Amino acid sequence: MIICRSVSKVYETIEGERIHALADINLAVQDREFVSVVGPSGCGKTTLLRLIAGTLPKSAGEILLRGSPVTGPRRDIGIVFQTATLLPWRNVLQNALLPVDVQGLDKKTYTERARDLLQMVGLTGFERKYPFELSGGMQQRVSITRALVHNPAVLLMDEPFGALDALTREQMNLDLQRIWATAGKTVFLITHSISEAVFLADRVVVMSARPGRILAEFQIGFERPRSLDVMGAPEFGRLVTEIRRHLTAHGALG
Ligand SMILES: Nc1ncnc2c1ncn2[C@@H]1O[C@H](COP(=O)(O)OP(=O)(O)OP(=O)(O)O)[C@@H](O)[C@H]1O
Ligand SMILES: [Mg+2]
Repeated sequence: MIICRSVSKVYETIEGERIHALADINLAVQDREFVSVVGPSGCGKTTLLRLIAGTLPKSAGEILLRGSPVTGPRRDIGIVFQTATLLPWRNVLQNALLPVDVQGLDKKTYTERARDLLQMVGLTGFERKYPFELSGGMQQRVSITRALVHNPAVLLMDEPFGALDALTREQMNLDLQRIWATAGKTVFLITHSISEAVFLADRVVVMSARPGRILAEFQIGFERPRSLDVMGAPEFGRLVTEIRRHLTAHGALG
């Protein structure tokens, strides 16, 4: 579904400084695979996500999405950011339908789809509410709906639950697992939480400090659907410890 071959990114600042953000990233994500990415702040995670999304040009290497090179923004991708970024003058349903308006898709068909998705994320009855009337978790549910409404094959998520309290975050993890299983999407999730990464993913990719490289990959074999209890399993603790050890060994953590 996603292939990165020897991808690197060097930013040039206005002062002419060159910042090597990513170095030699090689990654292949399968159809319907759930991949989590963890790494220290500033290691290039968002940069990698933007390269895959086609919203930022790469400096070297090759990125393929469903077999075709990424040369610019694409319709077969949905993106969820750390903050919900809803439009305050649009209600929930209208916010969810934003990609449909932007891409000029059939309103009637996609309104039905948006309603189904809102039901899936637990927002039935809130269609006519405005963002200011929603909690942070509810706003983020709307942004997930917006990312899925045009039925993209790939969902890219950049720290989607970072701004939520711990309990809401756990609920969102359970919901995301269910959405992923139901909707049959390929998910690429960036997170600062090692346990969130392990809980959700089929595979966790660990990145080094800048310039970001892939340090290690861990297959996560827990049966699905997973309940939060899995976090108490010895194997879960072992994986979290090992991933943290990798980050520490490479100077990413304390
Ligand atoms: N537009 C830009 N111009 C110059 N440098 C940039 C630009 N965007 C990002 N960088 C630099 O590239 C590096 C990687 O940034 P990026 O946002 O990808 O990191 P990140 O891993 O997502 O960090 P965080 O976990 O804090 O979100 C950082 O050192 C950052 O300062
Ligand atoms: Mg980031």
